[in-house]
Amino acid sequence: MTLTETPLDAGTQADLESHFEATIARNDRIEPRDWMPDGYRRTLVRQIAQHAHSEIIGMQPEGNWISRAPSLRRKAILLAKVQDEAGHGLYLYSAAETLGVSRLELTEMLISGRQKYSSIFNYPTLSYADVGSIGWLVDGAAICNQVPLCRTSFGPYGRAMIRVCKEESFHQRQGYELLTTMMRGTDEQRAMVQESVDRFWWPALMMFGPPDADSPNTAQSMAWGIKRNTNDELRQKFVDMSVPQAEALGVTLPDPDLAWNDERAHYDFGQPDWDEFMQGVKGNGPCNAQRLAHRRRAHEDGAWVRAAATAFATKEATA
Ligand SMILES: [Fe+2]
Ligand SMILES: [Fe+2]
Repeated sequence: MTLTETPLDAGTQADLESHFEATIARNDRIEPRDWMPDGYRRTLVRQIAQHAHSEIIGMQPEGNWISRAPSLRRKAILLAKVQDEAGHGLYLYSAAETLGVSRLELTEMLISGRQKYSSIFNYPTLSYADVGSIGWLVDGAAICNQVPLCRTSFGPYGRAMIRVCKEESFHQRQGYELLTTMMRGTDEQRAMVQESVDRFWWPALMMFGPPDADSPNTAQSMAWGIKRNTNDELRQKFVDMSVPQAEALGVTLPDPDLAWNDERAHYDFGQPDWDEFMQGVKGNGPCNAQRLAHRRRAHEDGAWVRAAATAFATKEATA
């Protein structure tokens, strides 16, 4: 059967729009075959793609330590964690594909620098304590961002996030467990943990995006039920969650303004360096060129696998 596009008359168009609006208002899911405004589709493609790219690029900073893990146990844990991130990327590319883009197109957008990934993955990993800090703080921030996305209005995205979140919370615990073990070790190990937390704290706060006042797309994304909380709300939640964890761990968070505010019943905290954040967004982060070059090389090295898979699929289809 061939599907032909027939122009919609004004009445049908109005029906589709009101069906979409009513679905969003009921907090129900929009599914791939439902009509949706172009802006909704574009926003989702951009957001899901950026999320998928972050999972895949995010394998690099930790993957850097797999061959130098301090024990077989740590190596097995890290291998499994990095492999989980590849899986997250795949669920998310699949969710994006239901919106009419292909994984190959998205990958090409990433390696040509036309689509972004989270700036956190442009920071280098300088010691094994960074594996712990990334699990605790980066996966921790990811959880704060992603748990509300399980209720996002686009069905395939929300369903992918449920599985991703379960695995991210496991990642966070493994990071915290690694840091706890190091904090029970030698003075040198404790110093490694502190130095690592000092480097990752501020970039973790940047993961929630710019302050609400500088985030022009947030209002529309919330009206569409794509986002459920603002950047500043999520950042606050992360700080409130992390401070007692830092105390239990015995590390100091590198923010002199961090203090409990009785009136607000939240922690007050300082602002990250937003100029540094913008540099990362523009592609000038510390390891930006290296991360993209590595991803590009992996894509080129994998060309024969894609060709073989396509040839096999074609043969199967015509058999
Ligand atoms: Fe992930
Ligand atoms: Fe993770």
